[in-house]
Amino acid sequence: MAHVGDVRLTVDGKTRELPIERATVGNDGLSIATLLRDTGLVTIDPGFVNTASCSSAITYIDGDDGILRYRGYPIDQLAGQSTFLEVAHLLIHGSLPSADLLNAIENRVARHMQVHDGIKAFLEAFPRDAHPMAVLSGAISALAAFYPDSTGRGEYEVELATVLLLAKTATVIAYLQRRSVGGDFIDPKKGGTDYVEEFLRLTFAPSDAPYEANPIIRRAMDLLLILHADHEQNCSTSTVRIVGSSHANIYASISAGVGALSGPLHGGANEAALRMFDEIKESGDSIEQFVAKVKDRSEGARLMGFGHRVYKSYDPRGAVVKGLADEVLVALGGNAELFDMAKRLEEIALSDDYFIERKLYPNVDFYTGLIYKAMGFPTGMFTPLFALGRVPGWIAHWREMVRDPQTKIGRPRQVYIGESERAYVPMEERP
Ligand code: ACO
Repeated sequence: MAHVGDVRLTVDGKTRELPIERATVGNDGLSIATLLRDTGLVTIDPGFVNTASCSSAITYIDGDDGILRYRGYPIDQLAGQSTFLEVAHLLIHGSLPSADLLNAIENRVARHMQVHDGIKAFLEAFPRDAHPMAVLSGAISALAAFYPDSTGRGEYEVELATVLLLAKTATVIAYLQRRSVGGDFIDPKKGGTDYVEEFLRLTFAPSDAPYEANPIIRRAMDLLLILHADHEQNCSTSTVRIVGSSHANIYASISAGVGALSGPLHGGANEAALRMFDEIKESGDSIEQFVAKVKDRSEGARLMGFGHRVYKSYDPRGAVVKGLADEVLVALGGNAELFDMAKRLEEIALSDDYFIERKLYPNVDFYTGLIYKAMGFPTGMFTPLFALGRVPGWIAHWREMVRDPQTKIGRPRQVYIGESERAYVPMEERP
């Protein structure tokens, strides 16, 4: 490991010492912020595989040892013992809430789950078969127009926006599901209700009947939201930070994060993995034949739900999800054939040199689609459910970014490889 003062860089015969920022745990950071000014050189790092864009105290990942901690607490301890709003408070404020505080948070969020009639009209204006991620991104951005008192960067506004985002994103996602199956919107209760229970009621309850969620579905939902709540500087969170760095409001920033999450290489992988299982089944190919196609690469196939930029061992969330899939699918029934196929696919891949050499393991999204499907969600809803879980993480990072004195507007450099200077060619002289 490098130590302060260890790194020297010689450019054109002149040597400089590059400062190192120490991590409490994990990789220290080599600061190159003055490199351009001092040497005229920029650094090149496509996909930011080696670039720390900020210092953060929220989430720690060790990709080699499969460790994930929120504010220092291991994910398996949180998954086993906490609730989603408790974890949201932990991520956003840095500590676990007392029972009284958690109760107050739950009530405050519940009181804000109603959405403005204008938001309902907005959701109804989209085609019923529109992909919910497109609508969700628009709806979150539009919250700024309906709640302008919460768009500032002061403490009161940010606190209000935090509650509104947690509350209204749940209602919007529930309404997106109701709309996709032709149901009417039902009104949220105005308090005295559990967040996950209320989300499930708004999603699944028949309009005129009381509803009590199946305890297995309720607990699975809470757990899945917790597992997705944060993952440090991933593609969507980095997007949220970079949009917010221009002083764009929190809704615009998180709406952009939803856009980033929709991609199949990121949050869209849960949907893509389930589609992949279905396609293998329909194609009549054996699992071995499908794996051979992935390795061959000629058809561009990837094993969706496998591989991760940071984890080079089993994704600790993936391990929890696999156990949950076992529990939920046995209890609720259905999907047994696809679940067996997924487990067999994992087994074959994990013993194949292609995947072993590249350290490719199942990520959190390999099994989640199967669970969501068993819970009654249509495929298009899988990534919005990921987004609902990620809201606290996005909020925590946006708030940390706003308060960090080192934050500057995000503006990478480039190495220009186009034409150097050339003279304008009038139309009549062009070939
Ligand atoms: N199937 C087959 N090969 C793969 C896969 C995969 N799922 N993932 C990576 N590889 C191969 C690449 O082809 C590459 O091989 P090469 O070195 O011979 O060229 C090598 O493994 C390294 O892969 P990269 O694409 O360079 O790794 P990167 O860190 O850029 O990508 C990513 C990570 C995007 C997650 C990738 O593993 C992937 O596409 N996985 C499938 C999509 C997926 O499941 N995404 C969800 C990620 S978790 C999340 O966002 C919640």
